[in-house]
This record gives sequence, C-alpha cells and structure tokens, in this order.
Amino acid sequence: MSKTKKINKVAVFTSGGDAPGMNAAIRSVVRTAISQDLHIFGINQGYHGMIEGDIIRLERKDVGNIIQRGGTILKTARSQEFMTKEGREKAYDSLMAYDIQGLVAIGGNGTYTGALKFGEEFNIPIVGLPGTIDNDIFGTDFSIGFDTAINTAVEAVDKIRDTADSHNRLFFIEVMGRHSGFIALYTGIGSGSSTIFLPEIENDIEDLIQLLKKEGRRKKLFNLVIVAEGNKNGGAMEIASKVKEQITGFDVKVAVIGHLQRGGSPTANDRVLASRLGHSAIEQLISGKGGVAAGLVNGKVVFTPFKDAISKTNPLNKDLIEMAQLLAL
Ligand code: F6P
Repeated sequence: MSKTKKINKVAVFTSGGDAPGMNAAIRSVVRTAISQDLHIFGINQGYHGMIEGDIIRLERKDVGNIIQRGGTILKTARSQEFMTKEGREKAYDSLMAYDIQGLVAIGGNGTYTGALKFGEEFNIPIVGLPGTIDNDIFGTDFSIGFDTAINTAVEAVDKIRDTADSHNRLFFIEVMGRHSGFIALYTGIGSGSSTIFLPEIENDIEDLIQLLKKEGRRKKLFNLVIVAEGNKNGGAMEIASKVKEQITGFDVKVAVIGHLQRGGSPTANDRVLASRLGHSAIEQLISGKGGVAAGLVNGKVVFTPFKDAISKTNPLNKDLIEMAQLLAL
C-alpha cells in the first residue's frame, strides 16, 4: 500500500485485451474525478503510451456518448518495454511531466502485474479495475466485459444451433479463454450445449465419443460442443478432427467465434459494473490508498491487494460444471 499523500491530478488508462465496458469505466472515472475537483488525464495505449508520454487532459464532454461503445477510446496495448526498469523510469518521467499523482489501471492480470511493480517502485498509488472478457481475476465475481462476451457468444451459438439442427450436424464451437473456462462454461450452459471442453479440466475425448455414439443410436445427429481455446486437447479444429477419426455418421463442422466476443456494445450489466467500479476507484485514490484492485463480491464493492489479485485464481464453480453435464444429458 502506498503512503497517503494529497492527490489532485490523476490519470486513467486501459491495457491488455480490450473489453466491452471499458469506455463506461473511463467515463465513470473521469466524471467522478471531476466531481471531486481533480484534474483527470487519459493515457493512450496503456503502458506503451505512458512510456511515450501520450497523455491528454480529459473533460466531462470527452467521455460523452461513449457508455454504449465497445472497445476503448483510450486504445490499448501490451508493452514489453514496460517490463524493463528503463521503460518504467520513462513512464514515471512522463507522469511527472504532468504532475500526475495517482492512476486508475483498467485491464487484466498483466495490467495488475505492471501496476504492482510500478506502484511499489515509484510510490505512486494505483487502483486497478478488472477489464477483461475472461473473468479470470481474483477479487471480483465478474470482470468488466464478461457479461457482454458471453451474451455475444450465446447469440452466435443460437444461430449455429439453427443451421446445425436443420442439417443434423455436429458442431464444435470454439470460444475465447486461453487459461480460463468461464466464457466456455457460461456459453455452454446458456446455449444448452452437449459438452463443454474447459482449460481447467482434462476432458476425455473418449467420453464425448461414447456420448455421441449413444446419441447416434437414438438418431440424434445434431449436437453442439463448446471448446475453450485453451483446452488441453487442443482447439475446436483439433478436437473435431480427432472425433471424426473415431466415429462415422456425423456431419462434423467447426466454428471459431474469435474476436467477435471482444467487440460490441456492452450489456447493461457491464455498464453498471464499470460505472460502479470506476466511481469507487476514484474514491479510493482520494483516500490515498493504492496498490489494490476494485471488484464486486456479492453485490458489494471490495478492494483486493494487487499481490492477491495476481497470485490467486478465480475458480470455476464445480457445481456449475456438474449441472451443465447433467442438463446436457
Ligand atoms: O484476455 C482476453 C483474450 O481475448 C483471451 O480470451 C484470448 O485468449 C486473448 O485475449 C487473445 O488475445 P489477442 O487479441 O492478443 O490475440
């Protein structure tokens, strides 16, 4: 935790993969800051822009008409240079050129890791906001962007369901999540899929084959299988070809939803979450306490030290996994 000191100039930035709702968070941070008589700046392109000194003053009107927009008006990037001491020194010099004394960092685990190091090295209070579609951040029930991503994915699967049903096809649908199965699990449950392949669980392809054989015997050739991109058996393409080698009688197709899940207008839930957390982040900075990430747990805003947010994982609910299996039978 950084030492308490009076703050009157703060900056906000987005970093890592963009997520729907980041703009709503920026809007909330900016307008809360101004309402508290703070000067607020935006840093373009995350840590990269911080190093380059790409910093702009933000006023209330600059964040008008953005609450409904996906992506991030401040742009985002993943910076290798910020991982070096020299890079962070340059970033600090840029902040000092504007006399910025506190930061709101919107992003995922990589963003928090950078924030922890930077905050400790230069004694600058930083509050993190969980902005990622993956929902893989400890210290919050949901991250900003997750709700929109799963709604987009479910909508896509519903469309695939129509054609899969009409043609009696077996579809393998890949959703995002290299290390985390939240998107796959919620998409699978929300779309009523037959099987869900998660990164956290060693799914046995043989189990799926047995299930499909059973379905085949009762002439159910239409099935939807959701695959998280980080599943140990490979992506949807690989799993589909392994299955194809071992069973016949199914018309197998693959669809990768990909970056569609990252774009689009945020859902109302994501907008409200982003607004609440953005507002709380500024209150936290004013109280002089940095080194923490804001989150919503059981409906209440909480702050988790970056150290914990980074080192602990947001576990998948085992009951949900079991329920998904049961409902698919
Ligand atoms: O972290 C968000 C995320 O969309 C992951 O779900 C995905 O694995 C990754 O980013 C993709 O990153 P990129 O857009 O850099 O390919």
